[in-house]
Amino acid sequence: MTPVIARTREELAAARSGVTGTLALVPTMGALHEGHRSLIRRARELADTVAVSIFVNPLQFAPHEDLERYPRPFAADVEACAAEGVDLVWAPAVEVMYPADPEVRVSSGRMGTVVEGAARPGHFDGMLTVVLKLLNQVRPDVAVFGAKDAQQFALIRRMVADLDLPVRVVSGPTVREPDGLALSSRNRYLSDAERKTALSLSRALYAGEAAAGEGPAAVLRAARDVLDEAVEADPPLALDYLELVDPATFDPVGESHAGEAVLVVAGKVGTTHLIDNVPLAIE
Ligand code: PAJ
Repeated sequence: MTPVIARTREELAAARSGVTGTLALVPTMGALHEGHRSLIRRARELADTVAVSIFVNPLQFAPHEDLERYPRPFAADVEACAAEGVDLVWAPAVEVMYPADPEVRVSSGRMGTVVEGAARPGHFDGMLTVVLKLLNQVRPDVAVFGAKDAQQFALIRRMVADLDLPVRVVSGPTVREPDGLALSSRNRYLSDAERKTALSLSRALYAGEAAAGEGPAAVLRAARDVLDEAVEADPPLALDYLELVDPATFDPVGESHAGEAVLVVAGKVGTTHLIDNVPLAIE
């Protein structure tokens, strides 16, 4: 069945008022792939009605980033939503989402300035601002996000706790290609040669994961060895960071850390910014 497509606040209000039972929201920027679709299926398990938002949020892109070229295959996205049994697609135009440049925005705090936040200043403030708006607009009982964007998820969790938002947030695991590459809407920018280099990110994470029994330094060393090669490859990886962090705070874990941690990596291949991570239990 084709979902109801709401493009204005009035259309959204009409669709929202017809919802009975519980509602789950999966926020996306479209160009839907199997990673998004796995979240939609998770949402389906969690609530009676499933809404997907499709909005490429200018606020979370820096001027030099890929806002203009970000893919917007809307008809294919609606088809994917229909195939997953989505009930409602919320797809506002930029002017609908931001009738005026927002003066008041969410601050992602110190946690928004480390790791990915250091590589993309302002990104997480823009992301949290739109997520808060989407939650207020759709008013879901539960919102589902991917572990692929681990720092994004940690910040959304924190915003919900710190601002007492009446929503439950749930995460779904990262979906990968058979060779390990994490699915991303940005993968379609990659040439074959760039894709080969991009694979070093997941290979580094797997190498780190295999060393989890030997402590934090060994994890980082094993991952770094793989990345050192990729930095020399043609085309090269321009590494932004490799860090082993606490999943809730994104502070680096110390040498004596044991327990949960996330190994996070990001870099550019050609002009494409890619991120990946793997959760680890450090012994
Ligand atoms: P987008 O990159 O479209 O991702 C939408 C959701 O899909 C996010 O929760 C993201 O973590 C998840 N996702 C992406 N790739 C995935 C994969 N390979 N496996 C599992 N989940 C995956 O993230 C955003 O959009 C935006 O920042 C948004 C939250 C919508 C705010 O604008």
